Amino acid sequence: QRDFNQTIDYVFKVVLIGDSAVGKSQLLARFARNEFNIDSKATIGVEFQTKTLLIDHKTVKAQVWDTAGQERYQAVSSAYYRGAVGAMLVYDITKRESFDHVARWLEELRGLADKNIVMMLVGNKSDLASLRAVPIEDAKEFAQRENLFFMETSALEATNVESAFLTILTQIY
Ligand code: GTP
Ligand code: MG
Repeated sequence: QRDFNQTIDYVFKVVLIGDSAVGKSQLLARFARNEFNIDSKATIGVEFQTKTLLIDHKTVKAQVWDTAGQERYQAVSSAYYRGAVGAMLVYDITKRESFDHVARWLEELRGLADKNIVMMLVGNKSDLASLRAVPIEDAKEFAQRENLFFMETSALEATNVESAFLTILTQIY
């Protein structure tokens, strides 16, 4: 991504949260670099990547933060959420538990993030349809009830990844 010599109109911080192994890091790799790694290692600590996009004739730099889902029972440091204007709550459509935990992630998010943060529920691994454990209707219903945007994605097949990030960024903007 070239943003050399480019005027940035906005920098938007977006955070990724959700259980370990749901695909947060690969969603980010797909979005930021159009890459995917099947041998993705669990994230340790916090990382971020940026991607600059043109939205409505404005140059928007998305700064997407990624952390370890493994620490789910400790509170993620509030610094992670500081300044975030968008959040993706990611679960794996083949792991019911990862969907059941979304409520806890949401609680943490509502506790630590800005109250105006744009939130999206993301059901990742839609390419594994034969292993589906979370009906799309359950997720839609939850999202509607909790006032979240919702999309199913596949980082592997690059389905809806850009679209999910764009939806958040456009809402922020
Ligand atoms: P933590 O860093 O531990 O929180 O995990 P994570 O949410 O970042 O998961 P990660 O992106 O490392 O992906 C976990 C595993 O799922 C890896 O083997 C990925 O290759 C795989 N994976 C990620 N996205 C997809 C997807 O869309 N489809 C399929 N089939 N596998 C995926
Ligand atoms: Mg990760």
